[in-house]
Amino acid sequence: MEVEELARYKEQAAVRAVAEEVRDGMIVGLGTGSTATFVLRELARRAREARWRIQGVPTSERTAAEARRLGIPLVTLDASPDVALDGADQIDPALRLVKGRGGALVREKVVALAARRVAIVADHTKLVARLRGPVPLEVLAFALPWVLRLLPDRVPGSEPRVRMRDGRPCLSDNGNPLVDLVCGPLPDPAAVAATLDSVPGIVGHGLFIGIAAAAYVAGPEGVRRCIPAG
Ligand code: A5P
Repeated sequence: MEVEELARYKEQAAVRAVAEEVRDGMIVGLGTGSTATFVLRELARRAREARWRIQGVPTSERTAAEARRLGIPLVTLDASPDVALDGADQIDPALRLVKGRGGALVREKVVALAARRVAIVADHTKLVARLRGPVPLEVLAFALPWVLRLLPDRVPGSEPRVRMRDGRPCLSDNGNPLVDLVCGPLPDPAAVAATLDSVPGIVGHGLFIGIAAAAYVAGPEGVRRCIPAG
């Protein structure tokens, strides 16, 4: 699919999500990634044209920089966000997610869980019948060798790969290495999430289960508002 077409869908989903989820005066959790960037632009437009006074809690340094550039005031988690708007790599019918291709999964999960409500913004290529690997992880450097040995036993059939950039381990904004847990389809994502949660040294993982209340998904048929099925 053309990059321009996907960008158009991301923008349409972002505009609809902001229209339905955000009101003047709200504190908004600001996600990370190309789709979240369209949310930032729409929030900035509302602030400019409708004089909305929005404050944002950024989930990454990259998002913080973009928000500053757009003139969106930033705050910390001293106050809970009214809503968090973020992208996702995969979305299943129950609105369970795989996130973290952009490496911001830990701050994204903190902001999502701190927020009163979480809505996902996506183009239709993110919809899947069943979640699958790779599942992004952030791991404490000290624990990394042990976690890499342990994971194939704890998640049978999986293969952890340290994410590399320019020949070096890719680090999160928190300074920790990122790992992609390569594996096939996940028949029980909640069980895998619980397993990953139980390993000390894994700072966080990209399985977001029971977190998203809605997803705004744009495609050739327009923007659909999805709620968790089942
Ligand atoms: C960032 O760490 C991720 O969780 C992103 O939200 C996810 O990768 C979606 O990014 P895009 O909107 O760029 O596809």
